[in-house]
Amino acid sequence: MIVILRLERGSGTTLQRQVYVQIRDQILGGQLAQGAEIPASRVLAREYGISRNTVIQAYEWLLSEGYLETHPGARTLVSRNLPERSLNVGPIGNDLSRSAARVAPKTPIIFKSRPPKLPRYGASEAEIDFWPGRPNHRQFPLWALKQSIVECLVTPASALSDYGDPGGLLALREGIAGYLRAARGIRVDPDQIVVTSGVQEALNIVARMFIAPGAEVVVENPCYGSAALVFESYGARMVPVDVDEHGMDVSRLPGAKTALAYVTPSHQFPTGATLPLERRLKLIEWAHNTGAYLIEDDYDSDYRYAGPPLVALAGLDTSGSVIYVGTFSKSIGAGLRTGYMVVPRHLVETARDIKTLTSYGHPWIEQVALADFLRGGFQRHLRRIRRSYAEVRDVLISELVRAFGPQEIWGTENGMHIMWRLPAGLPPPNAFVERIRSYGVGVHTLASGGARDFGSRYADSTLLLGYSSLTKQQIISGVRAMARAAEDLASKGVAAIEDRPLGVPARLPRSAHDLAKAAVQR
Ligand SMILES: Cc1ncc(COP(=O)(O)O)c(C=O)c1O
Repeated sequence: MIVILRLERGSGTTLQRQVYVQIRDQILGGQLAQGAEIPASRVLAREYGISRNTVIQAYEWLLSEGYLETHPGARTLVSRNLPERSLNVGPIGNDLSRSAARVAPKTPIIFKSRPPKLPRYGASEAEIDFWPGRPNHRQFPLWALKQSIVECLVTPASALSDYGDPGGLLALREGIAGYLRAARGIRVDPDQIVVTSGVQEALNIVARMFIAPGAEVVVENPCYGSAALVFESYGARMVPVDVDEHGMDVSRLPGAKTALAYVTPSHQFPTGATLPLERRLKLIEWAHNTGAYLIEDDYDSDYRYAGPPLVALAGLDTSGSVIYVGTFSKSIGAGLRTGYMVVPRHLVETARDIKTLTSYGHPWIEQVALADFLRGGFQRHLRRIRRSYAEVRDVLISELVRAFGPQEIWGTENGMHIMWRLPAGLPPPNAFVERIRSYGVGVHTLASGGARDFGSRYADSTLLLGYSSLTKQQIISGVRAMARAAEDLASKGVAAIEDRPLGVPARLPRSAHDLAKAAVQR
């Protein structure tokens, strides 16, 4: 056994005391295990250039205190009878048992009886995974971002050693403002933009502004699970409002007490419905009349495959009621952790203050690279991936129709995923998902796909299928696995779901009807 010592001559502590203390601490800390043989005094003295008597004296103290024991043949071992609790064998800082009771972390009240089920992250375990909302990593604009990042690092810039504007790099905010004007019909001054770590941080900033424990927050039913978790973590009470085939049913909005309403009007998550103009205007009017703020999450609006995009709520609002949140997680990649919020003028100061308190702003290099990209190839990149996502979406729809017959599919005209209403005769979502997984293919129920359901009519008969990260071949293989899984379960007599339509006409878009016909004819 090697014993490592750090001896300091002239430190004011005698050498024998230093040897004694250091060996004792290593025994207590678990670095010298019970029963381990320690070097003979002669050997240790030679290694550290100290007198043998010094070592002998230290060993004697350790022996007399029971830390060491001698054995025949003059071997000296770390005692095997040390009381367990005198040993601190865990990694440093992990043993809480020996200290006084620690202050408990402040658990949001809502989570005390129900631990939050946080969404998954990282690589998928399934070979082919229809996880919703993942951009295709093969189309990541590596080259464009790399050039900007390298340029940032060739000459030392004071921006690297100084703090930047907590609201975000001006060039990036200008780029975002230009993009929002052109693509989303939102006229916004760069000063109203705060660059954030994705939608997630933006939601936290808004929650911190407005949610006191017990505050009511309207959410869509079903809704984006991570948003509901943020609001609940601040103590909010969720007020779910049902979603139909046209998005949130605004006729069911509650009365005056609400602090916030969180909505995804462009591509409702998870159903994929698009909120029509009439409902958008009613929603804004409701916010104006009740004093609530609307959080408009426009997470994947870059992908619209048919028809002109509807103007965002923030582009329609004149009453300062809308807080718009956007992200580069879908248009480029979630690994960038960059998004933004656009706030009405009267909230700018508060939003910037909260961002300052949280982090003093977003990393500079990422912002420079994104600002360059928005000025340069961003639109080209979007056109390219939009085309390829539309292609794989078409393959998915036609394969589903080929395998299962005409289908009720939601959300085909926007975004990166569809919601598939399982036809009568197929197994219920959970059993189906599990069986499909045995073929190495991941498909998702509303819950496992990141949605929160408050007892809506969708959860027990739908699946979410993200297509944007998959190749055509992966989609074909994936749907085949789904068909095999359905057959397996049918042959085992697993109960099938009933023919309980969602109460809307079949929602295959025209393009998908054509695909369906083509697939059936083939
Ligand atoms: C509705 C919705 N909003 C936002 C996001 C992205 O959030 P972030 O910008 O924090 O990555 C997602 C990702 O799946 C989403 O589904």
